[in-house]
Amino acid sequence: MTKQLTVAIVGATGAVGSKMKEQLIKRKFPIKHIKFLASARSAGKEIEFDDKSYIIEEATPEAFEGVDVALFSAGGSVSAKLAPEAAKRGAVVIDNTSHFRMHPEVPLVVPEVNRGDLAKHNGIIANPNCSTIQMVVALQPIREKFGLSKVLVSTYQAVSGSGVSAIEELRTQSEQWDAGKDVEANILPAKSDKKHYPIARNVLPQIDVFTENGFTYEEMKMINETKKIMHLPELHVAATCVRVPVVSGHSESVYIEVENDATIQDIFNVLKDAPGVVLQDDISQQIYPMPIYVEGEDPVYVGRIRQDLDNKKGFHLWIVSDNLLKGAALNSIQIAEAMLEDNLL
Ligand SMILES: NC(=O)c1ccc[n+]([C@@H]2O[C@H](COP(=O)([O-])OP(=O)(O)OC[C@H]3O[C@@H](n4cnc5c(N)ncnc54)[C@H](OP(=O)(O)O)[C@@H]3O)[C@@H](O)[C@H]2O)c1
Repeated sequence: MTKQLTVAIVGATGAVGSKMKEQLIKRKFPIKHIKFLASARSAGKEIEFDDKSYIIEEATPEAFEGVDVALFSAGGSVSAKLAPEAAKRGAVVIDNTSHFRMHPEVPLVVPEVNRGDLAKHNGIIANPNCSTIQMVVALQPIREKFGLSKVLVSTYQAVSGSGVSAIEELRTQSEQWDAGKDVEANILPAKSDKKHYPIARNVLPQIDVFTENGFTYEEMKMINETKKIMHLPELHVAATCVRVPVVSGHSESVYIEVENDATIQDIFNVLKDAPGVVLQDDISQQIYPMPIYVEGEDPVYVGRIRQDLDNKKGFHLWIVSDNLLKGAALNSIQIAEAMLEDNLL
């Protein structure tokens, strides 16, 4: 019989936490007991799960007593403080924030790519950045067959990637536009930065704040995390991350260079059978992935595959996935499932 586990969701009221609840039910994760943790603001409020009502508790170190798996998505500072406390009490932490991702002792895992890294954990496993996850799921099967030397990506990222308050901001701004009122911006492009710009009827070439080298933190996450997950420290990666007025579903235009000769049919054949990938590419029928059609769906969708006109080893791909699912909640639950199967839980 499958082991039954005590699960905690930290950040249960948030955009990612809500999807974690849905995924646990949908995937029939073996739950003996579940607890929902959030800030003191939500403690004492009710939350629905599988047709039952639960009381939200404040996330404190003691709340993790007896927990087997703690799914964290409450921001980096909460993970920094509480993930070690949960691990100390015997829980395996699967952390959605960026806090531990580049820590050398913390595995950063996308099960389709580097499941084997889970065995090296010391109580904390990091779930990668949403735009990185969907990209590496599509690139890994190509890399396995033809090698990979370069990845240049531009993203078109949905507002839900910035939490429930950003979804609300897009809705409010759209209403303000329609009513002919002044448009108010308080959250995007980055809540902690000096200026805020409207996302309704706009695109923002900034996600997160800027680093000293001119790339944003979001772009640096894609660059560094791709190399770590794929175990390719020398891979040439560059990213431009852009926020677009889409509620859910991140899209990416990706240019890659492979090491061995490949034809466009080779790339099609590899992606057709790749785990977690759905090939949606028939330009004669205008078939290609789009964010509104992938919302609520598990896979990573790939289309618009083209061989570069000047470099035979260069290929262009269009990659779309639900950022709250494969980009966050689903990947976390798949990590927990893989650990259960591999007797790591
Ligand atoms: N959205 C995405 O696509 C995505 C993808 C991957 C990773 N992530 C990461 O996941 C984290 C959450 O993202 P989100 O989009 O779900 O944000 P969100 O919608 O703003 O939700 C934040 C959650 O954190 C809780 N929280 C805030 N402060 C807390 C505290 N001091 N102690 C305990 N809980 C606290 C909130 O609880 P209250 O309701 O009580 O305030 C809420 O449940 C972020 O670190 C984000 O970078 C997000």
